[in-house]
Amino acid sequence: MNIVSLFCGIRSRLLWVSACVLLASPVFSAELKTSKEKALTVQANLGYATVLPGHKGAVATVQPLATEAAVNAFAKGGNAIDAALAAAFTLGVVDSHNSGIGGGLFIVARLANGKVIAIDGREMAPAKAHRDMFLRDGKASKALSKTGALAVGIPGSVQALYELQQKGGALTFDQVLMPAAKLAEAGFPIDNTLANRLARTADKMQPFEATKKIFFDKKGQPLQAGTVLKQPDLARSYRSLAKHGPNWFYRGEFAKQTAQWMARNGGIIDANDFARYHTVHREPVHSRFMGYDVYGFGPPSSGGAHIAQMLNMLDGLPIGTMTDAERYHWLIEVMKRAFADRAHWLGDADFVPVPKGLIGADYAKTLRKTIHPSNASETQKITHGMPPKAASDFFYKQLNKHTTHLTTADAKGNWVAITTTLNTSFGSKVVVPGTGVLLNNQMDDFVAAPGVPNAFGLVGGEANSIAPFKRPLSSMSPTLVLKNNQPVMTLGAAGGPTIITQVLQGLVNYLALNKPLEQALDTPRVHHQWQPDWVFTELPLEGKTAKALDAKGHKLRKAGDFGGTQAIVLKNGQFEAVTEPRIIRRNQKPIIKVN
Ligand code: DON
Repeated sequence: MNIVSLFCGIRSRLLWVSACVLLASPVFSAELKTSKEKALTVQANLGYATVLPGHKGAVATVQPLATEAAVNAFAKGGNAIDAALAAAFTLGVVDSHNSGIGGGLFIVARLANGKVIAIDGREMAPAKAHRDMFLRDGKASKALSKTGALAVGIPGSVQALYELQQKGGALTFDQVLMPAAKLAEAGFPIDNTLANRLARTADKMQPFEATKKIFFDKKGQPLQAGTVLKQPDLARSYRSLAKHGPNWFYRGEFAKQTAQWMARNGGIIDANDFARYHTVHREPVHSRFMGYDVYGFGPPSSGGAHIAQMLNMLDGLPIGTMTDAERYHWLIEVMKRAFADRAHWLGDADFVPVPKGLIGADYAKTLRKTIHPSNASETQKITHGMPPKAASDFFYKQLNKHTTHLTTADAKGNWVAITTTLNTSFGSKVVVPGTGVLLNNQMDDFVAAPGVPNAFGLVGGEANSIAPFKRPLSSMSPTLVLKNNQPVMTLGAAGGPTIITQVLQGLVNYLALNKPLEQALDTPRVHHQWQPDWVFTELPLEGKTAKALDAKGHKLRKAGDFGGTQAIVLKNGQFEAVTEPRIIRRNQKPIIKVN
């Protein structure tokens, strides 16, 4: 097994690349062409990541059309909040295999007034969900939690984006939504990424007529790159949302139609579940690293807590002067410990006690003492640790029952980091007829049964078991870095559990090694998630660094290039915005032909 099959259950590197990570399209102009030929020949007028003239703002997304929507929002007098919303809604049209209004998200934002906020728009399990809902004959059914009606959690993106806008957007909800509605209506040429994903996911999409109607041609084949994809139903949904606000989604026609479809198709989400959906405005997880203040997303994301935990273990080490092998050794060892803790402790902290001690400096010191400076620890001997006050001090109030990353910034000091997802490609594959909206399969992020790996090979325990209105554990890690109260960096990623380790390495490479931003993201990555006991690496295995790691006892497995990180930094008053270089490179790759 390698990182490919681990994360997606498919085998080749190219397949993993096309199916699992946020990929971007070749560049297209905003001027939409209707014929296939013209669509393929139009040239870019904007790229994936853009800095506005005069460093008035910046944006990075995985799709030039989404980046362009953000730039247009700035041009209309919007700020980074409006730009982020415009990009997020556009991604739901042009990158709908990854995200959309049928999914969920986490937002970390720094407002112009200096406040750092964290909005939890993660899906919630419906009222009828229960711990063993995916067990059949005592065994966890991998299919049910991933595809079809039961896989769907109550979507949170709409409410969370709306609330972000209320926090300081300069435009109206209508203004940030309508360009995406128009794009859905006019259509856009399908890019290599979407075509590849479609080709790979087609068999699972086949049973869903409304999904096929959008993404398949008249002969029943998935649409090819270059075909102009028009989504009139989605356009109508966006227009209704623009006109009536989130009520249309949670208490109106959308909730009603979805509930009806669920009732007819073995689902359990009803209109009452939609009405009970709520976001949570959380305290961002704060840690210090090399004099920087790092803010991340707390449970139900595991990202913020474990990035803080790993940075704490690394803080004070001479990372900048280590050899590559020494640095990777430390990175791998801190990853193992964090993921061992993740599997045991992490879940929705509104439902289970998640110890705050996990991110404490003392706990990091205790864990660091277990790391040998030059030899790999035996991973099977690493179990979860025991953070201080593990029985008394928790994130939030105990039992208080109640993958794309995009980022924007502006000169007024608004910075927005949003990681949003349907979970795996095209989520549950369900489009509720007439809505054009793909629904997530976030229920797979719960633990279906202790020790049974999810789509990303992640195992977990009771803390992440299913319960009504609970949120499944996530790895999404929108992150913001401040120095002396001023924002200097933001980043986040896609790629399941590698999100956490991508963000860690982006931070270390930029903040500790002082690499230029693009290089910081492009440096070969490693990933260890405790189980399985493998270091997934982009390093050439025959190279010096890999050999040195092997000599230390690390079990290296060559992974194709992996990751999907977007980042913005501000240095000497100048923004720099970067979209994952691997995404841009991969997108040049040939299209996978179907049949
Ligand atoms: O929340 C999570 O951790 C996952 N649902 C994220 C999914 C993801 O990153 C898919 N991309 N490869």
